Amino acid sequence: MTMNQASDGHFPVAPVPQRSFGVVMKAVFLKPVLKLLEAVLPARTFDKFYASTFPIYKEVVRTGYWVGNFLTLKFLNAEQWARVKRVHAVMPYSLVGAGGLEATDRAAQSVNAAGVEGDFAELGVARGGCASLLGMSAFAAGAPPRKLWLFDSYEGLPEPGERDFVANGDTGDHVRPLPKGSCFGALEEVRAVTLGKFKLPEDRIEYVKGWFENTVPASRDEIKKLAILRIDGDWYESTKVCLEGLFEKVQPGGVVIIDDYDSCIGAKRAVDEFVAANGLNVTLCSDGRGGRWFRKAA
Ligand SMILES: C[S@@+](CC[C@H](N)C(=O)[O-])C[C@H]1O[C@@H](n2cnc3c(N)ncnc32)[C@H](O)[C@@H]1O
Repeated sequence: MTMNQASDGHFPVAPVPQRSFGVVMKAVFLKPVLKLLEAVLPARTFDKFYASTFPIYKEVVRTGYWVGNFLTLKFLNAEQWARVKRVHAVMPYSLVGAGGLEATDRAAQSVNAAGVEGDFAELGVARGGCASLLGMSAFAAGAPPRKLWLFDSYEGLPEPGERDFVANGDTGDHVRPLPKGSCFGALEEVRAVTLGKFKLPEDRIEYVKGWFENTVPASRDEIKKLAILRIDGDWYESTKVCLEGLFEKVQPGGVVIIDDYDSCIGAKRAVDEFVAANGLNVTLCSDGRGGRWFRKAA
């Protein structure tokens, strides 16, 4: 396995400033400030503060993403500017940072350009932002006929398991701990975002509600081919069951994205074990903000 590259040669990681503003904001502003406030405020006051200010923070990052790209891309590169517009549109509905959304969009566009057959699947949908971004490419004019599979409990995260922790009790590079129910997105909200807001075709989307441990094995026969397998379930067991159940469906030239590889210890463990157990010779490319992708060999 080759690690920590920015590209497998098919599509590059997004250039600065497309991915850097949010990363810098998180490192120099969000994490230190939150750590300080968490230490000095009573827990309930801190929770209220976090809940009310996190959307504002996200909007600041989103605006920075737009402005930075407007200044550098608007008159320079029509294709990249179109991508920025798609990413900017879904950001309010996604927990994925700009770099991860950009990498997802590039992967989706690259399989379209190469004519790779198969559906797109996201496992870990939350409120449906990244899922909508995938849908924009899945159903773009000229793309092979595809469905979009959206797997989630639609009840938020399960509890982390023992393989999600390291000795000091950390589960990864998180702004806050992620107890059961975190990252919640209701099925009705995801339908409103994907169908109502982004007007994706209802008859080509499968919303699969339940725990991956049950829904992935139950859907395996129905899913014939995948061109994109996007795994965004944070934890070891959630990631493992997706790889074990669906990797074999990914077509040569198709892309596997693991959103949490560099941010969740359990997701990294599950991927590394799967790659080793199956003797895969893959290049794990970084999206610059915590995720990785690799392309299945032709
Ligand atoms: C980080 S969020 C996904 C973010 C999303 N891709 C976005 O665009 O914002 C993780 C999601 O994975 C789901 N999830 C994690 N493990 C799961 C499991 N074992 N079964 C079902 N859903 C799971 C959670 O419900 C949550 O919605």
